[in-house]
Amino acid sequence: MKNSVLFAASLLLFFTSCKKDDDKNEPTKVTYKTLSGNQPLVIGHRGASGVLPEHTIESYTRAIEDGADFIEPDLVMTKDSVLIARHEPMLSGTTNIKDIASFASRKSKKMVDGVETEDWFASDFTLAEIKTLKAIQPVASRPQGYNNLFSIPTFEEVVTLAKTKSSQVGRTVGVYPETKHPTFHENLKLKITDKLLDALTKAGWNNAESPVFVQSFEVSNLQYINTKSTVRLVQLLDANDVNADGTMDMKAPYGQPYDFVVSGNANTYNYFVTDAGLDFVKTYADGIGPWKPYIVPVYENKILKTNDLIERAHKKGLLVHAYTFRNESNRLAADYLNDPQAEYKKFYDLGIDGVFSDYTVTAVAARK
Ligand code: G3P
Ligand code: CA
Repeated sequence: MKNSVLFAASLLLFFTSCKKDDDKNEPTKVTYKTLSGNQPLVIGHRGASGVLPEHTIESYTRAIEDGADFIEPDLVMTKDSVLIARHEPMLSGTTNIKDIASFASRKSKKMVDGVETEDWFASDFTLAEIKTLKAIQPVASRPQGYNNLFSIPTFEEVVTLAKTKSSQVGRTVGVYPETKHPTFHENLKLKITDKLLDALTKAGWNNAESPVFVQSFEVSNLQYINTKSTVRLVQLLDANDVNADGTMDMKAPYGQPYDFVVSGNANTYNYFVTDAGLDFVKTYADGIGPWKPYIVPVYENKILKTNDLIERAHKKGLLVHAYTFRNESNRLAADYLNDPQAEYKKFYDLGIDGVFSDYTVTAVAARK
């Protein structure tokens, strides 16, 4: 009898609490396993680069309008020491430079992280010359109709855009700059890291409260920034490929931070995902930015066993922002059945703190 009364009381309580939710007409509260408990960040990777030519004001604008929390400029330097947004110091892949006859003789060979490379290099051109170029779409299967329309922005212009659009859209949109090839630039006497710090200071965004993360595949420039600024830092983790057993292939030139190669430090990126490596990162950075197979390994287009990297990083107090999420079927593991949202959802469920996405609109839709 006592049990029946208790059962009836429990039922009443259950239905009362359901009704309460119905009365409020509130959506079910979603909880996240992120470090902060907040929803994961969507980072517009090179802007909305799946749709518009990467690293242009137009591409970043589209990402913001599609709901990005951050826009991601990769940074290289001009001959006159200006930070510009490009993925590589080489210009032929993402601009129309090869079509400009007056620049034909400016092609040169340089060593980029130990690899001899022949191209037109941003570091051989002034900003005024860079501003005569137009961006092109580097991925053949993506829309080519916007080629030769948009200019190459400076980092300062990207920050101005983030601030202006933040006011327009009524939410803070941050910037997530990546120092590209710091050792390469420093060898050319182009002080990429100091220039970035100067630009952040000028923007009033050079501290821990700023809507900024600075990322690098190298280590020593992040350690340097950590001695100069409280701005948030993310250690990127690269790899050559995924092995059949789900471990990461550390073949050169992708297996080690290039400053480690130069200094003779034998540690590969695999070291950074050990508990000792995470402790090391924690001495100078706020998070790690792994290639996504570090978390969900994919071999021959099939998902292997998901590992515990996010959980272990969180235990150390480190954020995890993974790259790069793309919609195209040929960039998705077969297990996702051609549904790019399924991949985001898998990572959101695992507790990822942020995703670098070429298609902000899809990353945001999957978060709902
Ligand atoms: O910065 C995260 C991700 O962008 C790293 O790869 O080559 O696209 O700069 P990448
Ligand atoms: Ca990047």
